[in-house]
Amino acid sequence: MKRLPFPILFTIILTARVIPQTEHTLMPVPEKFFFGTGVLLVDSAFSVSLSGYIEPRLERAATRTLARLSLQTGIPLSGTPVRSGGRLEIHCDGPAEGVQSAIEDESYTLMISAAGARLSAARPYGILRGLETFLQLVESGREGFHVREVQIEDKPRFPWRGVLIDVCRHWIPMDVLKRNIDAMAAVKMNVLHWHLTEDQGFRIESKRFPRLHQMGSDGKYFTQDQVREIIAYARDRGIRVVPEFDMPGHTTSWFVGHPELASAPGPYAIERGWGIFDPTIDPTREDVYNFLFAFIGEMAVLFPDPYFHIGGDEVSGKHWDANPAITEFKRKHAMLDNHDLQAYFNKRVSAILQRHGKRMVGWDEIMYPDLPKDIVVQSWRGQKSLAAGARDGYTGILSYGYYLDHIRPASFHYQIDPLGAEAADLNGDGKRRILGGEACMWAEFVTAENIDSRIWPRTAAIAERLWSPESVRDTNDMYRRLEVTSGWLEWLGVTHRSSYPLMLQRLTNHKPIEALQTLSDVLEPVKFYERPRARRYTSFTPLNRLVDATRPESDRARVFATRVDEFLADPERKKNADLLHRWLSVWEANHAKLEPLLSSSGILRETVPLSQNLSHLAAVGLKALESLQSGKEIVWDKDTGAMLDDASKPHAELLIMVAPAIRKLVEGAGALR
Ligand code: ACM
Repeated sequence: MKRLPFPILFTIILTARVIPQTEHTLMPVPEKFFFGTGVLLVDSAFSVSLSGYIEPRLERAATRTLARLSLQTGIPLSGTPVRSGGRLEIHCDGPAEGVQSAIEDESYTLMISAAGARLSAARPYGILRGLETFLQLVESGREGFHVREVQIEDKPRFPWRGVLIDVCRHWIPMDVLKRNIDAMAAVKMNVLHWHLTEDQGFRIESKRFPRLHQMGSDGKYFTQDQVREIIAYARDRGIRVVPEFDMPGHTTSWFVGHPELASAPGPYAIERGWGIFDPTIDPTREDVYNFLFAFIGEMAVLFPDPYFHIGGDEVSGKHWDANPAITEFKRKHAMLDNHDLQAYFNKRVSAILQRHGKRMVGWDEIMYPDLPKDIVVQSWRGQKSLAAGARDGYTGILSYGYYLDHIRPASFHYQIDPLGAEAADLNGDGKRRILGGEACMWAEFVTAENIDSRIWPRTAAIAERLWSPESVRDTNDMYRRLEVTSGWLEWLGVTHRSSYPLMLQRLTNHKPIEALQTLSDVLEPVKFYERPRARRYTSFTPLNRLVDATRPESDRARVFATRVDEFLADPERKKNADLLHRWLSVWEANHAKLEPLLSSSGILRETVPLSQNLSHLAAVGLKALESLQSGKEIVWDKDTGAMLDDASKPHAELLIMVAPAIRKLVEGAGALR
């Protein structure tokens, strides 16, 4: 298929017929696209060919594409690419450097007509991204499976689009990492930020200092062979792996085997709780830097990425203040506070990294006036902090607003823009210093069982914010496509949907889960840092309760709220009335069905108030609905107000997410007292 320049094709198609362009489910939305009316069949004769520059990574990607097509369609397909003339022709112009850098050409062009498809790109990264787009276009129609005619020209808005996975607070094994890498690649993310060391675990083998992982991990660590396996797996998908070794705080696990690095005498034990802890590396001693030089040297060879994350967040400073040798060091060097001391430490570490050929990345706290300008600041504190760094000449990435453990809805993450209002006054260079962002999956409240459900599908909304043009901002359309995206992500092996019924089944002791799911579907876990405030958690606390199974975002509650608003906006009070009546009736009746199960289960008993409140809420919701329809105002009694108040409070660390919309109905029907 001969390639026509995009504008020419665009014009031809545009003049031929106006076609609705919104009815696609691509996520992230490509920069430019135009759909035609025809389709290219995906049947058992489907084939893929490679031309131009060919490398094993591209051959494996083509093979994987065929396997994925087979999975998506159920059609057996030849497992390997053909020499030429494939129904999907892949053409790559040339190679990329051996090690993927932070800024690569990821652009691609995808032209699909009824006669064939052609994916072309200057570099392998564009091919990898374009193949994911192709796979997202596969759908079933009148004649079986097909992809629609389309012309796509696409490239990312930001070069750095990552996910941080904390494998320390809870152990996250190889297979879970791999399936999440697959899902990241599917939404065109390109950095796995591997948070490898923490107070609660040193999760990587050090051959130079084996006591680090042997004594600091309970045996749960990645061998260096496994690390290489993950890096190769990610590289195959165009994903960089940036390791984080958090220092000088968050280092308790280092000191179990190496107490001599610490600011206070040992002995130390692996931390089992969550929070900010006092153990801190002693930044005043030369033997500490000799150790770090050797350790970082070992890790710098293992991880090919040019960036190396040293954390630097949340240094308590208490052990520095309590150590006379450290306070004397500060006095001698005219350091005013612990921030000065940490800046000294960062400069020493930055010099070590430079000698090992790496660029330093750290959290906001590493910012200090005379740090070298080649460091990268990852902002968890806010867009203002990110923009301030960029103004001062520092490269930055945004994670504020992308904390998945805060259990915020996809719509919240979606409106967080690394180049938002705070960056408005940056000049072109300043804006270019903001490389992108990372979703953060801190692992205090996730295990291998439910981590996927906390990452997906919400991270796809973040992926779109980081890839798609700034103008792509329609939240309703995002949710429409996210629903489809969430479905097909399961094909890749992530278990964000399938783990839910299994976890509910454990809770019902293998009895039917429907009634429990009816409740759980309108709940969400509490937000921010409310869980550790609700009770004492440690790494030994089982995460097997309803709060651990319940999805982070209730789609049912979101849709219900929209339907209520539409109902209230309709002067005739007809719109959605039947639907609302039906849902409220189901919720009202649910408690009677569920109560025997809940009260006979030690693990579910704590959710009785939630189930009860949902039933009460639904009952007053029904009354309000009838009143609004009949026009007969209700005078609510005091108990109704008290019930609504209680129903909006957390129980068992869970919130009833339909409570605010039901309150709207109630208040619409009459004044609360
Ligand atoms: C952080 O959340 N302390 C990076």
